[in-house]
Amino acid sequence: MILRKKLIAGNWKMNKTAADAVALVQETVSLIGKQTDVDVVVCPPFTALESVAKALDGSTLKLGAQNMHFEASGAFTGEISAPMLRAFFATHVILGHSERRTYFGENDELINKKVLAALRNQLRPILCVGETLAEREAGSTLKVVQTQTERCLEGVGKEQAPTLVIAYEPVWAIGTGKVATTAQAQEVHAFIRGLLTNLFGEPAAQKVRILYGGSMKPANAPELLAQKDIDGGLIGGASLEVRSFVDLVNAAIAAK
Ligand code: PGA
Repeated sequence: MILRKKLIAGNWKMNKTAADAVALVQETVSLIGKQTDVDVVVCPPFTALESVAKALDGSTLKLGAQNMHFEASGAFTGEISAPMLRAFFATHVILGHSERRTYFGENDELINKKVLAALRNQLRPILCVGETLAEREAGSTLKVVQTQTERCLEGVGKEQAPTLVIAYEPVWAIGTGKVATTAQAQEVHAFIRGLLTNLFGEPAAQKVRILYGGSMKPANAPELLAQKDIDGGLIGGASLEVRSFVDLVNAAIAAK
């Protein structure tokens, strides 16, 4: 029995105008817009959400955002809330990406508030965790991942847990072309599954998708996706080109 449908999510980061985004999505939809073997989510910048939502209409692809504020509304200049994302029919939101942590000072406490707000608003969080190169070299990878996971998931209920998506993204592998070995990735994924089991119990933990992120490409995806606890990918660079993104989705279909 397949417990977990694989999930491929494209994190476009600060790339593509609304017009470029629509062109990319239309081509993607024409190639894989009807398949149901794996879940596919695209996460464009806020400015392209509305036009991408329209371009996705009638396809099986889902829409995600890359960040959000934890309050529903108010005096938070420059911020976007969960209800605003829901109004565009977004279903997912990336939270706690290492670029948010590094460049925008996000910490586990703030990310935890966002996770809870997303769940309150029926948005599935794609919660990112992962160690830096210095932390890996110091032998503290598992400790770092444990602290991030537990702190960011504080207050999440057992019944909400199956809607979570966790992305393990070693910071040293993001955008660097340096991918974690399958053994390195599987070790951390299995460890995260164990943490989820402690927090939510075995049945719920078995339903959570744990994605790998960090220089995932069509060439390295099949081996990563064949691992027991790797349930998909959070794709940066390779999600910006139709060919590589579609090839990654096809790799996930082949690995299902
Ligand atoms: P990358 O980015 O695929 O370009 O390494 C992954 C991510 O940051 O989510």
